[in-house]
Amino acid sequence: MKSRFSTAELNTLRRLRAGFLDGSAGLSDYWRSESDLALYDATFAQRIGWKWDAVLRELQLRQWQPASEHVLDWGCGTGIASRAFLAAFPNTRSVQLHDRSQEARRFASARLHETFPSVTADLSRPDATDKTVLLSHVLNELPAHALQQLIALLRNAAAVVWVESGTHTTSRLLSEARATLLGTGFEPVAPCPHSSPCPMLDPKNARHWCHHFAQPPPAAFQDARWEQFRRELGIDLRSLPYSFVVLQRPTPSPQAQHPEAERPEATPFRHRLIGKPREFKGHDKVLTCQEEGLTEWMLQKRDAPELLSEMRAPSGVPSYQLSTQNGKILSGTAFSPPEAPRWD
Ligand SMILES: C[S@@+](CC[C@H](N)C(=O)[O-])C[C@H]1O[C@@H](n2cnc3c(N)ncnc32)[C@H](O)[C@@H]1O
Repeated sequence: MKSRFSTAELNTLRRLRAGFLDGSAGLSDYWRSESDLALYDATFAQRIGWKWDAVLRELQLRQWQPASEHVLDWGCGTGIASRAFLAAFPNTRSVQLHDRSQEARRFASARLHETFPSVTADLSRPDATDKTVLLSHVLNELPAHALQQLIALLRNAAAVVWVESGTHTTSRLLSEARATLLGTGFEPVAPCPHSSPCPMLDPKNARHWCHHFAQPPPAAFQDARWEQFRRELGIDLRSLPYSFVVLQRPTPSPQAQHPEAERPEATPFRHRLIGKPREFKGHDKVLTCQEEGLTEWMLQKRDAPELLSEMRAPSGVPSYQLSTQNGKILSGTAFSPPEAPRWD
């Protein structure tokens, strides 16, 4: 790997980024060559991979397991989403790689083969039936009719893991997609602590959007190429906002099979932190999502200093069990992984 980007490479990165930002990327295939894809894979895709790592870590902390050993990576680009997924869930046996660009499909397949030689790459027509479908950074490239077709395809999936950029626009589109998919029988796994309608879509919450922040690996801050990337493209490497939703088809519960079994209690971690706390002198304003909707709380440092530090830099899943009164958080506990279910 060279230590610096050439002028031609920087121009390619700028061209790609301009298309992602101004919405023109959806109009036509923008992958001009294999070197475009390699450059994307080493830069933008790496940042996307760090967001996937955060999502997949949350799924692992939640002890979620995919019901299927087969994956469809739809709009795969260079295939960063499926490679991140395979690293987290190595039982996966096949990955179907779909993209409107043939060059991208070939590139993703070659990279998949290099990294996971025993996993089958399938480049045939996309079929989501009983698969875990991965979607990553596709929403702002899809006109309404293409999004409708995609949603129709997802109806047969076993699960959907969908990660987007964390902007107001894409996050709200993702909330709408969640609503449609819940209407077809999916249930939410994360980040939603409830299966009620997403409160972001309530007109009174129009200024909000569901998003979180991932952490880049510390090595990125000591790397000359990332420093050049940051400077030349004007990208703040420290800020890695993302939105995501994970949905699955309900599996028959042990209770349905054994009606006498005791139903496990609903999660007590019913408050999901949205974005970052807003810091003021002596207190923070904290926005959380819960079954009843969105609430902005006041969290005073003197009431819960440790909770305040944890919410400013969550160490795990940013879901909390909070004790609140009159719009204030009095105390709280961060999510801890569930114990094995008790179906005795
Ligand atoms: C921003 S890239 C994201 C690639 C990859 N999922 C990632 O996260 O790095 C969006 C990808 O979606 C593909 N794409 C755009 N419109 C599409 C469509 N209608 N059908 C299939 N793929 C599409 C593009 O070719 C591109 O590879």
